[in-house]
Amino acid sequence: MSETSPKLRAELDGIPTYKPGRPAAAGGTVAYKLSSNENPYPPLPGVMESAIAAAGSFNRYPDLACTGLVNELANRFDVPLEHLATGTGSVGVAQSLVQATSGPGDEVVYAWRSFEAYPIITRISGARPVEVPLTPGDVHDLDAMAGAITDRTRLIFVCNPNNPTGTVVRRAELERFLDRVPSDVLVVLDEAYREFIRDPEVPDGVAIYRDRPNVAVLRTFSKAYGLAGLRVGFAVAHEPVAAALRKTAVPFGVSQLAQDAAVASLRAEDELLGRVGSLVAERGRVYEGLVKQGWTVPETQANFVWLRLGGRTADFAAACEAAGVTVRPFPGEGVRITIGEEEANDLFLRTAEAFRAKIQ
Ligand SMILES: Cc1ncc(COP(=O)(O)O)c(C=O)c1O
Repeated sequence: MSETSPKLRAELDGIPTYKPGRPAAAGGTVAYKLSSNENPYPPLPGVMESAIAAAGSFNRYPDLACTGLVNELANRFDVPLEHLATGTGSVGVAQSLVQATSGPGDEVVYAWRSFEAYPIITRISGARPVEVPLTPGDVHDLDAMAGAITDRTRLIFVCNPNNPTGTVVRRAELERFLDRVPSDVLVVLDEAYREFIRDPEVPDGVAIYRDRPNVAVLRTFSKAYGLAGLRVGFAVAHEPVAAALRKTAVPFGVSQLAQDAAVASLRAEDELLGRVGSLVAERGRVYEGLVKQGWTVPETQANFVWLRLGGRTADFAAACEAAGVTVRPFPGEGVRITIGEEEANDLFLRTAEAFRAKIQ
């Protein structure tokens, strides 16, 4: 038998593996998971029923073209059917976007720190990540990002609101930035947390994309709509970008359960967005609570808050874990805390207060 192992692409060396948020601690009296920006509410009964009904035929492949879902989305967003592409979560669509635009020798620009999948999917494609530091206030530095564009740049992610800081870019600065981007460079507005935005100055990416052929918008059913476990997201993009996405998507990637649950969710939007409203109210309460305790918290428009704790990150996360709340530490940088159910948020606030008292 030969001693050599199969040849793998050199680009894969050193790619960090995606780290999921830790599950809630087992064994304690209480255990809340505030580490993955999930929706704490269980599926709505009607949505659950449509998924269960679809489960009755999972011996069959799903509808490859996601016809029902794409029709529903086209009506909901008033966009042509041909401008929609679905995928296994918006991360699946993001990966297709990178694959469709960028390969060895090309560059993908994004803010850092931002969504941790960006460097992974960029490097899997063989392209070079160009990470532009956030401003000291943890906001995208759009001037620096525009300055980082070269003739090798193929794609730019703008994560709005940004994961993990929750900060946003507003209409005027985004428009100014887009005016500076060459028309052959694709700008992807990643709006995974769009439904949590209450700042009227934050633009709706779908309104921006309409007269900008080099802008694509990413949305997901994982957050506000509570379907994280079903894996379905989509992009709104002009031709030929949307067509390229349909080409590069994994065939049959979106299960029929996911398609039918997503359609049912769009039809139950009022109820789901009511839940989002409750989470937004809780976000306000957590934010105010932390500020009152003396923490510096960037203003957030997402379903999470960010504490830049630097060297105290690991200790803070351990204190939360010990109290029964699992949060998301980014070693040496800070901790992201998802807004969860009221009791979870209360427990988190009490833990943060005790930690602060200890370090003062
Ligand atoms: C900014 C951002 N984009 C995309 C995603 C991907 O979500 P999904 O693949 O579940 O749609 C996430 C998930 O955390 C995210 O934070």
